Amino acid sequence: MKVFVTGATGYIGGSVAERLVREGHIVTGLVRNEEKAALLKEYGVEPILGSIDDHDILTKAAQDADGVIHTASADSEGIPDVFIAALARTGKFFIHTSGSGLVNDGADGEFAAARRLTEDSYFEPIPFRMNRIKMNRTIREAGINLGIRTIVIVPSMIYGRGRGLHKESEQIPAIIRLSKQLGAAAYFGKGLNRYSNVHLDDLVDLYLLAIERAPAASLFYAENGDASFKEIAEMIARTQGFDGKTVSVPMEELIAQFGDSGRYGVASNSLVEAANAHRLGWTPKAPSLVEYFESLREHETQSHT
Ligand SMILES: NC(=O)c1ccc[n+]([C@@H]2O[C@H](COP(=O)([O-])OP(=O)(O)OC[C@H]3O[C@@H](n4cnc5c(N)ncnc54)[C@H](OP(=O)(O)O)[C@@H]3O)[C@@H](O)[C@H]2O)c1
Repeated sequence: MKVFVTGATGYIGGSVAERLVREGHIVTGLVRNEEKAALLKEYGVEPILGSIDDHDILTKAAQDADGVIHTASADSEGIPDVFIAALARTGKFFIHTSGSGLVNDGADGEFAAARRLTEDSYFEPIPFRMNRIKMNRTIREAGINLGIRTIVIVPSMIYGRGRGLHKESEQIPAIIRLSKQLGAAAYFGKGLNRYSNVHLDDLVDLYLLAIERAPAASLFYAENGDASFKEIAEMIARTQGFDGKTVSVPMEELIAQFGDSGRYGVASNSLVEAANAHRLGWTPKAPSLVEYFESLREHETQSHT
């Protein structure tokens, strides 16, 4: 099979692309410059030079492939429409990567969400995430009306090392960087807000399984556990050289430094349940978040002995 991947140099896209290549598929990957194109080739990915704003390039690459995996942006409006137009009435698959931030609330660290939301649960989206919700709806509608096997995958907080060029995820590495500046592992406000999480290797499994089995218009939350940001800070404090020290960053400081994406990224709840993925036969196997942090500590200890 030939698959076109956007974000092929990124954390999610690179890891999915590497796995597809390993399983014998032909992978073409969107890449923004010659230097990264050369590096992508080393992973066996055929580079296609361009940006997600080059709609003609996206259209041709999609039409030349048996399916598309879009990971370059969960939020850039208009890009899914390009793929929908390119693939209409072909029956090919189009996987869009969203993010469980779509169920964010305004907890500001003060409380844990009362329940996990499945793909069928009603919730009231916050204005900051409406764009993401609308995009996902449009993509799923195209699966019903336009003869494309559209699939939306909604990863929660991803951890684990990337397999492609970009090794690091978003939230946890950012918290570790901030913690290094502060000299203690950071959480935000009271840190009681909880986020679902998923190991990158399990997430990659879900992409492969979705290509194989997911029906048109499907939606998959991806998680295999959850933690509060206070608990995450405690894991960081124990395993990343902070001698168990944690520190609360006041909400005003978080917002002043990182704006709404910081506020909702680390001080909101995002508790989801991967009900559809389990129904599809997805069985996560990778270490939990706690086990992952402990393995980093072991690795650190071994590298100093
Ligand atoms: N990591 C998580 O925990 C997580 C969880 C849920 C959802 N998400 C969402 O999933 C998406 C991918 O996440 P990620 O962690 O894989 O991010 P990442 O490592 O930063 O990768 C982003 C990829 O998209 C490419 N890209 C960005 N803008 C582009 C443009 N204008 N034209 C062409 N390529 C472009 C980047 O290319 P360059 O190499 O040239 O920069 C890179 O390959 C993001 O929207 C993110 O918000 C991430």
